Amino acid sequence: MTESVKHFLDLDKFDKSTLRDILDLGVAIKSDLSLYAKSQPLSGKTLAMIFEKPSTRTRVSFEVGMRQLGGEVVVLSQSDSQLGQGETIADTARVLSRFVDAIMLRTDDPRKLDELAEYATVPVINGLTDLTHPCQLMADVMTFEQHRGPVAGRTFAWTGDGNNVSNSFIQAATKFDFSLRLACPESLRPDASILKWAVDCGADITVTADPAEAVDQADCVIADTWVSMNDKEAGRVELLTPYRVTEDLMGHAKDDALFMHCLPAHRGEEVVNEVIDGRWSVVWDEAENRMHAQKGILHWCLS
Ligand code: CP
Ligand code: NVA
Repeated sequence: MTESVKHFLDLDKFDKSTLRDILDLGVAIKSDLSLYAKSQPLSGKTLAMIFEKPSTRTRVSFEVGMRQLGGEVVVLSQSDSQLGQGETIADTARVLSRFVDAIMLRTDDPRKLDELAEYATVPVINGLTDLTHPCQLMADVMTFEQHRGPVAGRTFAWTGDGNNVSNSFIQAATKFDFSLRLACPESLRPDASILKWAVDCGADITVTADPAEAVDQADCVIADTWVSMNDKEAGRVELLTPYRVTEDLMGHAKDDALFMHCLPAHRGEEVVNEVIDGRWSVVWDEAENRMHAQKGILHWCLS
């Protein structure tokens, strides 16, 4: 890996102050877009986006964000590129590095992301793997702080499947100094090595099987789909039904608690309409902040 290349792979790879600087950059661009639109800081830069899984928010937020800062994008999918015909990730990295200034990858296996970063000579950005979703967490921290001030010292509660977004939440709690309680069935807990890393770092993370215990007096409650892309349903709905975010469950949180969800939501499964459309919900700001947070990431990677 070229040491000087500024990849955005996972939150655990950053020191706390660099992550805070990237987030602050996103907030600064958001609050004075006209200044950045005028200076076009990414003029002449091109981002390639490779999607091996579907996306709405990631694709549109990166594309619009790049254009608003003066840059261009090229989108590749597995089905219409040579990746789907067996060209290796390493060779794809070498070739794309000759054409573009940064590469975003959404894929299944996190080892593909590592291979891309190993062989690319331009920054690589993690647009979601089966293991993590760090861009989402930058937007989530931005969203909480937009509504309630600093995340440090606050308590977040995750309820449902211990999936890729929950793993990035664990990394974010460790790096942004908030407490995290995760309520997951025994068989769907977050990644054990990420949990161990967080505990070894001294983070305040607890895992329980009881959603009411996790949500008790929380500042923010988070849900995500029960069946992530590539997952098999295989009994998950039955197993996860007690983890649904309802008005009753929100009643265990602080009165001014927020509700967040990375979207897409499966209304009536992991969250009921009364919550996602209710007074707690900041999910539309959260979706918008994907673009603002990623502008900070792009600016950092490309400067
Ligand atoms: N939250 C998120 O990453 O959404 P998309 O799958 O639509 O990109
Ligand atoms: N956990 C979900 C997140 C989607 C943005 C998935 O991986 O499908």
